[in-house]
Amino acid sequence: MLSRTAGRRACRSFSSLKQVRLNHNQPQNAQDNARTTHFGFQTVPEETKESLVRNVFDSVASSYDLMNDAMSLGVHRLWKDEYIALLKPGAKGPVKCIDVAGGTGDIALRILDSARERYADRETSVDVVDINTEMLKEGYKRFKKTMYHNTSQIAFHEGNAQALNEEKFPSNTYDLYTIAFGIRNCTSVPDVLKEAYRVLKPGGTFACLEFSRVNNPLFGALYDQYSFSVIPLIGTILTGDRASYQYLVESIRKFPPQPEFAKMIADAGFTTGGMFEGKGGAWRDLWGGIASIHTGVKV
Ligand SMILES: C[S@@+](CC[C@H](N)C(=O)[O-])C[C@H]1O[C@@H](n2cnc3c(N)ncnc32)[C@H](O)[C@@H]1O
Repeated sequence: MLSRTAGRRACRSFSSLKQVRLNHNQPQNAQDNARTTHFGFQTVPEETKESLVRNVFDSVASSYDLMNDAMSLGVHRLWKDEYIALLKPGAKGPVKCIDVAGGTGDIALRILDSARERYADRETSVDVVDINTEMLKEGYKRFKKTMYHNTSQIAFHEGNAQALNEEKFPSNTYDLYTIAFGIRNCTSVPDVLKEAYRVLKPGGTFACLEFSRVNNPLFGALYDQYSFSVIPLIGTILTGDRASYQYLVESIRKFPPQPEFAKMIADAGFTTGGMFEGKGGAWRDLWGGIASIHTGVKV
């Protein structure tokens, strides 16, 4: 049974999506000159994407962590662990991190736990930034149950990855910038990268974990089948919200493939590895490219 609030959220989300579909089917007139972008498989005016994405995450916030486990059969945990193991926060002393599109704080918690457990580091800190207050509220609730609550190691901020507040997030401040499963939801990826470059210290690391392109066609076909039939179905059963989960699946297919995204990171000014996958390369694929980790260093 859907709660009344969840029902209202789901309705709002559905009506937003329906609106987009209606607009999409209308003859192009006033929109001809408007700049457009994608929202899942829909083409929408650029200025509407942010609120559509906001509706999705408003709708999924309270069930986000549960759904992540259900949809990926827990695999997202392995990917996130591998991401943090690669970055080794705290290995060379405490680091100042910013986790953008940080949602419910999954990455922040892993950074702090890893620094403490592996390197006895209790000074590494994370600023979690997200555009969505509902997701941040879930993160705050979660951290309340941890030893980091009310310490200088964690802070939650509302903010847009594309335009971080310069007073709150001054230039040349952070050693590590993380963004996990967030950048594909942003309207302008180059603007996000520009901001990441600005807030990092020279020598600081940009690291993005995101869904990507599967290399093997057979595996790709199986993965497509799972994504388009099973994920929206699980979303419907567990939360009553098919539309939001349909968007999440579609948005993955619209994100640029690994070499294209690596080039965007280099174009933003970061030093990356070579334009190939693996050791010495600009990215590392996880599970045949279902997800990938891209890194770059600010020079
Ligand atoms: C799929 S969730 C990922 C959350 C978390 N990083 C994780 O890995 O579990 C995507 C997050 O991106 C946030 N988001 C979308 N657009 C954003 C933007 N322009 N600026 C900041 N956050 C944004 C959403 O609110 C949502 O919390």
